[in-house]
Amino acid sequence: MDLLLLDKRINWSLRLMNPGCWVFLLVLLIQVLVISAETDPQDAAALNSLASLWENTPSNWIGSDPCGNNWVGISCTNSRVISITLSSLGLIGTLSGDIQSLNELQALDLSYNKGLNGGIPASIGSLSKLVNLILVGCSFSGKIPPEIGNLARLVFLSLNSNSFTGSIPETVGNLSKLYWLDMADNKLTGTIPVSDGNKPGLDLLTHCKHFHFGVNQLSGTIPSKLFNSDMRLIHVLFDNNNLMGSIPRTLGLVKPLEVLRLDSNSLSGPVPSNINNLTKVAELHLANNRLTGPLPNLSGMTALSFVDMSNNSFDASDVPPWFSTLPSLTSLYLEYLKIEGQLPSALFSFPPLQTAKLRGNQFNGTLDIGTDYSSSLELIDLRDNDISQITLGGGGFDKGIILVGNPICNQGGTDLRYCKISQQSTPAYSTPQNCVPIPCPSDENLSPNCHCAYPYTGTLYFRSPSFSGLGNVTIYQILEDALKSSLLKQVPVDSVSLQNPFVDPDNNLAITLQVFPGAKDRFNEIDVYTLGFILSNQTFKPPSLFGPYYFIGEGYSAVRVMAPSSKSNRQNVIIGASVGGAALAFLLTGFVFVIRRRRKTRKVEGKSQSIASWGRTKSSSSVPLLKGARSFTFEELRKCTNNFSEANDIGNGSYGKVYRGILGDGQLVAVKRAQQGSTQGGLEFNTEIELLSRVHHKNLVTLAGFCNDQGEQMLVYEYVPNGTLKESLSGKSGIRLDWKRRLRVALGAARGLAYLHELADPPIVHRDIKSTNILLDDHLNAKVSDFGLSKPLGDDAKGYVTTQVKGTMGYLDPEYYMTQQLTEKSDVYSFGVLLLEIITAKKPLERGRYIVRELRVMMDKRKDLYGLHELLDPAIGLGTTLGGFEKYVDLAIKCVEESSNDRPAMSEVVKEIENIMQLAGINPNADSASASLSCIGSRSSPLHHPYGNEGCFDYSGGQPPSELEPK
Ligand SMILES: *[C@@H]1O[C@H](CO)[C@@H](O)[C@H](O)[C@H]1NC(C)=O
Ligand SMILES: *[C@@H]1O[C@H](CO)[C@@H](O)[C@H](O)[C@H]1NC(C)=O
Ligand SMILES: *[C@@H]1O[C@H](CO)[C@@H](O)[C@H](O)[C@H]1NC(C)=O
Ligand SMILES: *[C@@H]1O[C@H](CO)[C@@H](O)[C@H](O)[C@H]1NC(C)=O
Repeated sequence: MDLLLLDKRINWSLRLMNPGCWVFLLVLLIQVLVISAETDPQDAAALNSLASLWENTPSNWIGSDPCGNNWVGISCTNSRVISITLSSLGLIGTLSGDIQSLNELQALDLSYNKGLNGGIPASIGSLSKLVNLILVGCSFSGKIPPEIGNLARLVFLSLNSNSFTGSIPETVGNLSKLYWLDMADNKLTGTIPVSDGNKPGLDLLTHCKHFHFGVNQLSGTIPSKLFNSDMRLIHVLFDNNNLMGSIPRTLGLVKPLEVLRLDSNSLSGPVPSNINNLTKVAELHLANNRLTGPLPNLSGMTALSFVDMSNNSFDASDVPPWFSTLPSLTSLYLEYLKIEGQLPSALFSFPPLQTAKLRGNQFNGTLDIGTDYSSSLELIDLRDNDISQITLGGGGFDKGIILVGNPICNQGGTDLRYCKISQQSTPAYSTPQNCVPIPCPSDENLSPNCHCAYPYTGTLYFRSPSFSGLGNVTIYQILEDALKSSLLKQVPVDSVSLQNPFVDPDNNLAITLQVFPGAKDRFNEIDVYTLGFILSNQTFKPPSLFGPYYFIGEGYSAVRVMAPSSKSNRQNVIIGASVGGAALAFLLTGFVFVIRRRRKTRKVEGKSQSIASWGRTKSSSSVPLLKGARSFTFEELRKCTNNFSEANDIGNGSYGKVYRGILGDGQLVAVKRAQQGSTQGGLEFNTEIELLSRVHHKNLVTLAGFCNDQGEQMLVYEYVPNGTLKESLSGKSGIRLDWKRRLRVALGAARGLAYLHELADPPIVHRDIKSTNILLDDHLNAKVSDFGLSKPLGDDAKGYVTTQVKGTMGYLDPEYYMTQQLTEKSDVYSFGVLLLEIITAKKPLERGRYIVRELRVMMDKRKDLYGLHELLDPAIGLGTTLGGFEKYVDLAIKCVEESSNDRPAMSEVVKEIENIMQLAGINPNADSASASLSCIGSRSSPLHHPYGNEGCFDYSGGQPPSELEPK
């Protein structure tokens, strides 16, 4: 029985308040109690026992029927409790031994409740059906009970980041189904247990893929018996312990191994040569040990991205031959290793190389960066070597080279740039805001989409990423995208924000995560534990370049901001022995609940009002510069859109809705109506009016006027019947875009942009070029729209303006992002991304896949269509001749060059597209209306085009008509 429903019944009953009704009410309540006792009494008692030791239990944990009342965090099957998931809810207290009664339990997740402490009761071993046991990020202490080895069905065991002491119980070796074993970041001591005849050990865990034991005080040797060729381990993380002795040869038998961290122990002896057999290892960390013998030969480990062998006692060695042969190497850390000789310049020409930390060796002669050094290179640290000369390849490489402590700096050259230690601080990153920032109440935060809300917050720790260059914005964008799409599957998420990446003392890459709620200002309790579980159970899998991770959530207190402690209510109920007492308690909690809900509603209303009025005062303070744009009254626009009727609604976005309208003179218009409290602040409204009333070009959308009346802000445009390019690419609009049509759309958009950059005075940078901002008219002429973020480049001849970074992820120019210097070339980058979107019909950034990277990786110039068939949108007409396709790809790639200087100007882009069109057999200057482009293959169809009847449709291309329903 739902409490809300009960509320309603009580309210309704109270309205009929006469003595007869009171009797009726009591009878009703008794019925409710009797009927709803759905939970097995033993489970109900056990949960109440757990709850009695906890503070901050979820607000509906009241009464004695957890299953019947849908207690937050509890799921049941057939009256039995099968899962308890209470991540991040701020629970305080200890874990009751009565948990043993819940013997149907399959999942227990108490992660990220820092207030949970004390020991794990041995009785937990009775939960014979348990599959997931997740206690990461609490404050549990004491020994891990050996009874944990009785949980025969356990698949996922995560005890990391607590304060457990004692040793790893050998009985864990009995958990033959175990897939994930994480005990890292505790205070565990003793040795790693292995089996011997009559006792079990971890070597028996042949199904397990993860041994995560780092950051403990484990001692003894790594037993040779621990590894064998049946094992499926992919991550072996033993770093930051006190392990001694040599690395066992048996490790070389674990063929699936991908990540090996043995760093910061006291390991000695030579590295076994068969480590070279581990051809899947991408990250190898052996640093800070006492390893001896020859510097290991890694030439067989071709998957290596990250190698750190610093601070060991290897024999003096010449520059090893594998130095410049590992094709995926991003990070080479070899500090204090007695390596001598000249550094091969080939090392720096690896495309992926980002960081070379080679301090404290005996590299000598000339440091030659070569001419084709890696564009990803961020740092070469060669402090304290014997280098006496430097040759900077092509004069171009000007990022971090540190040569302090080399002869070249000691010979009076101390004022050379690379003879100083510049502040090597980690490049800051913070997810940009896609709008004009607005002020938030002090306890809320601003989301990247500019909503004030309470974010769910925590820190992601990547234990062994494949990269070290933290200045590459793309990496964060990929992660944001992957996180958002994973979380959004289960929780209404507006956006995620990443901040403050840094390498922590345990050599993890830590990044702060904030997850913002969609549509409301805070997550509810269910959202919160669901978010926690997605991260604690590793349901979220980051793109592989990030490697293994763990997450530590902060308790989400906003669920309790308006909820007074529910504990006393619950106890009232438990104590109340008679049905009457319980009924009274129900009545009381009912009232409390109603009052609580009312208060909450009022608060939310108050907030949205304040934002709305802020937007209004701001915009009315500055009247936009008007030339040519007409001012409409609210009344006029209301009339012409049929009172903003649903039938006229042709689209919406974060700013509000777009309506079709007909002006008095019969002209069709699109009216963009900002939502009350919209994120598109007054500033953008003014920008768009000012800019659009100055520019006129057939490839730019025309502004017919605006309305700033009765607290409403609206922009009135010419009506562009075929909607956005995005809709056509996704098949939604019913227009099939073959190769020639796509070229024509690209040309139109390019001409519009070239006009803005080169003919408008002053030049204008659009800043938000993307497929949803390119509109198509009924002859498929492209029209660039949405100038809300556009920026004039003043005439102070710098050629750039320094400005806060805005734009849309996936299209955003990384150079602009990093330097904050905006030039026309930032639009060229976005346009390049658009060119790629036009041929692939894929979102540029989706589920960790970034179109630019994907294309670069897949492209093979020796193959037909550069080998890109798989990436292309089949509707482009695969199988027909795509004349000029390769030149088109070349052009797109030039537009997305890393460095803006290498990108072409828009006028050059226009010329090149015109050339390509000739190759495709179209006359670029023919009017598109006459050029065989109008309605090919159009069929009479009863279907309704969302933007009216003017468009040309072709459903034969593939997209099922059902998607064409009007909104
Ligand atoms: C592994 O490496 C050793 C020594 O490096 C070599 O003799 C052996 O053949 C390799 N084994 C396999 C299965 O590749
Ligand atoms: C660099 O060191 C190596 C090995 O110590 C030596 O043979 C070589 O002559 C040195 N080269 C220079 C240019 O000093
Ligand atoms: C940034 O990272 C992406 C994704 O890993 C990669 O493709 C790109 O080459 C990197 N860019 C630079 C300049 O390192
Ligand atoms: C939790 O993790 C396990 C092991 O990875 C997986 O099998 C299971 O599906 C996950 N559960 C959920 C609900 O995601």
